[in-house]
Order: sequence, then C-alpha cells, then structure tokens
Amino acid sequence: MHIADLLLPLDEASGVPLYRQVYTGLRDAILGGRLPPGARIPSTRRLAAYLAVSRTTVLTAFDQLAAEGFLIATVGSGSRISEHLPLRPPAPDGNGPAGAGTPARAGTPDEDGRPHEEGTPREILSACGRSLIDLPRPSRPLSPGPRPFRTGQPPVDAFPLEVWRRLAARCHRALSTADLYHGSPGGLQRLREAIVTIAVARGIRCEPRQVLVLSSAQEAMQLVCQMLLDPGDRAWLEDPAWSGGHAALLAAGARVAPIPVDDAGMRVEVGIASAPEARLAYVTPSHQYPMGVTMSLERRTLLLSWAREHGAWILEDDYDSEFRYSDRPLLALQGLDRSGRVIYVGTFNKTLFPAIRLAYLILPDGLIDGFRRARGIGGQHSPPIDQAVLSDFITEGHYARHIGHVRTIGRERRDRLVSAVRERLDCLELTHTDTGLHAVAWLPPGTDDRRVSGAALRQGVEAAALSAFYVGPCPRPGLVLGYGSLTTAQITDGVARLASVFSEAARPASP
Ligand SMILES: Cc1ncc(COP(=O)(O)O)c(C=O)c1O
Repeated sequence: MHIADLLLPLDEASGVPLYRQVYTGLRDAILGGRLPPGARIPSTRRLAAYLAVSRTTVLTAFDQLAAEGFLIATVGSGSRISEHLPLRPPAPDGNGPAGAGTPARAGTPDEDGRPHEEGTPREILSACGRSLIDLPRPSRPLSPGPRPFRTGQPPVDAFPLEVWRRLAARCHRALSTADLYHGSPGGLQRLREAIVTIAVARGIRCEPRQVLVLSSAQEAMQLVCQMLLDPGDRAWLEDPAWSGGHAALLAAGARVAPIPVDDAGMRVEVGIASAPEARLAYVTPSHQYPMGVTMSLERRTLLLSWAREHGAWILEDDYDSEFRYSDRPLLALQGLDRSGRVIYVGTFNKTLFPAIRLAYLILPDGLIDGFRRARGIGGQHSPPIDQAVLSDFITEGHYARHIGHVRTIGRERRDRLVSAVRERLDCLELTHTDTGLHAVAWLPPGTDDRRVSGAALRQGVEAAALSAFYVGPCPRPGLVLGYGSLTTAQITDGVARLASVFSEAARPASP
C-alpha cells in the first residue's frame, strides 16, 4: 500500500490546515502500527505530488513529526519512522486503534448536551474508578438551562448581574501581582468572615477558622465521606434523598442504611433501631430533599444525642432552607449541637447561580486542620478572585437583598404552580409547598411514576419520578417539580404540557 493511502482523504474545506491533516494522518498511522518502526517513507517531493499539495505543506508536517520524535531524517537517504515509539496494538479489524485515523465514535450526549465517547473499558480502571462510574447519577438528558420542571435550578433570571459585574470589575482593577499566587486551601479570609455572618443568621455557632471553602456541596460531601468513612462503614441516608449525597457515601465504600422519612423528617428512631453503629448520618433537616418536610425538634434532639453517645457524625445539608414562604426560616441543626458532631454544608451554587462553583463546610474544632490539609493537596483551593467578588457581594448587603428577592419571586412562582395544577391537573396533589424551589406532586395510587416521567420528557417536560429518589420501595408515586428558574408563564405552559401527557394516557387506545 502506498503511504499516502494511509492518510485520511485531505479536505480543503474542513478549516483544518492541510499540513495539520498530513501530520495527523501520519502520526495516527505510526501510533496505530500501520507504519512500523524503522520503515522508510517517501520523499517530501513524491508525497506532495501524490497528495496533490505543495511541497511546503508536506515539509511542515514532516518537521513537526521530526520535532516530536516520530520521524528520523537522515541526510541523503530520506526519512524513517523512529524505532522508539509508544505503540498501541492494532485493533482487531486491522485498522489500528480507535482514534488512530478513525473518527472518534460519537456517543450519546452527556448531561451538558455535548456528545461524549462511550465506553471507558472497565478493565483499565481501579476498583475505586469502577465503583465511581457505577454510581447512580441523575438523568439529565436535555440541554442545560431552565426547563419545566427541572429541579435544582435557582432563579438565575432574578440575579443582580449588573451588581456582580460592577463588583467583579472593581476586584479585577484592584488586582496586584501578589494576588496571582496560590490562595489559602481553607478559602479567602474575608469570604470566611462573610460566610460566618450568613451562618450566624441561620443559628449556626462558628468562627471563620471553622469555614472551609470548596466548589460545591457535592465536593464537600465527598471530602467528608472520604475523610471520615472507611469502606464497609454504615451510614444513614434519608430515604428518599438527593442522588449526589447517596453517591458520596457509595464512593467512600459506605454501606448505606436507608432511613424512612415522614412528615417530621427522617425517622431517627428507625435508624437507631436498625443501624445504631453507623459512623455518619446524612440529613437535610431544614428542608428534606426532595419531600420538603422539616425535621421536628424532638427528632433533632434524638439525632444529636445518638451522635454524641456513639461518636457518630451528622452531615447537615442545609439545601434551600433560606426559601421559606409561610414563616421565618428554621434554624440549623448545627446550632443545637453542643458536642461537636455536626458538619454543616452550605452552597452558593443554589442560592446564587450554578456557575459560581462556591460552597462551604463548617467544621467542628477537631476536624479543621485535617480537612484543610486534605483540601490543600496538590495546591487545591477555590479561585481567590471569585471568592473576593463573593465576599464583597455578601458584606455590601447584596446577598441578603437577593435572598429576600428570591423569596418573593419564589412565592409567586410557587403560587402559580399551585393554581395551574389546581386548574389543569386535578389528578395531582401538591404537598409541602411552603419551602424551597420545587414541590412534590402525588400521583394517583398505582400510577407508574417513571412512565409518567418518561412520557413528560417526550413533551419537553422534566418531571422527575419520585421513586427515582428512593433506595427502598417508594410508598406513593409522585413527581418532583422544580419551579425556581421558571417564569410564571413558563410554569403555566409546563403544566399545560404535563396535562396533555395525562389526557393522552386517558384517551382510549384506537381500535
Ligand atoms: C439536597 C441537595 N444538596 C446539594 C445539592 C447540590 O449542591 P452543589 O451544586 O453545590 O453540589 C443538591 C442539588 O440538587 C441537592 O439536591
């Protein structure tokens, strides 16, 4: 076979320079073993003639291959393929490995709607890597951004972007070279101080040194589980729960004990009876996710005394608790803890906007140093410039103002959902709608909520099946409807589309 036949057909219209196409084709042929080590290759002049390109094109490609060590040029006798190459075995079809001259396989879109390559071979991964790719992950097959009734989306349309731009510009103007070095693994001191002011308003007792800044609640939970759980340790998980919390426990190798939830939150007495030896309990006491209930004071007290007596940790995820419509927000569990067993997680990704990627842990005394060291491995920390903008946003009063504003528009959106469901979807029964930016809607008993959810998706509506949040059996079918990022008009439209799913299902099958 002529060497030029190994090259992909050159395509002048592709926008990729011709020399780059020649270079890539030859390199892939070499790496794929189709041009063996030591093989002679034709002169640049002959190859250029064969490919009908200029000699400069081929020379440029050869120069790059020689610079990278793929080609050895010998004066007077042309070029050879290097003898010392990291070769991969040819694929069974004889065409070389995937990626060597063959286009990457386009897979199904990932959560961001971007295509990704399918099938990382399991055998190349460690046991930990295999367990990570097997973790449950939320199904989010559609494009990012607001969509009825996607959960976990704050009202980004209400965010004071102009204020943020101004603060960011000011921070950037004030930058000096001293700001370009690594930051502190614990987080910017002034952001930690600002976070304490937010935390104190939530009834938390803490000082800035207890605050550890991270990029997400998910990352915070992974760090907690990694630092405090050994493989095989038992851990309580509210059932139902957020899949990310569940995943953090599984990733640490914990044996999950699902603990049922009722109208007073996690049934702590069931946990104590069934898994008293657990090392950790992951809870959402102010606003149970996804049910929206609040843990009673009696259960909170029982949970704290169990943790104290057993030396167990309580991981408190305070998700969405700021958005309470009927009365004042309930104070955090951490504020009741007198034994240093509660680790508190808060996230700005949900109270402000997802792309901010800033969250925090508030740690009991004995954990601060160890967690900071672990966070700092490899020089890791959150971007200091973003932290500076956020700390100004908080200290200058914009954070509190924004939360108040979201509470107002959250109530309006919640009201729209309640009335639209009442008008158009009387087979749904909304429950616990006084907190947060989503609501659970019960379906008639016996309904398969995953089927309804699938049918809704085909109408462009993401209505997550409640049963998907359970580890154990789901006692009652339902849908989880996020409304935080939707305008009232989008809510009305989403409910109408959801209603069409039900009328479609009720229509008798055509004979
Ligand atoms: C209960 C709960 N906690 C935390 C998060 C995510 O927070 P972050 O984006 O900061 O990881 C979610 C996401 O939906 C959630 O449902």
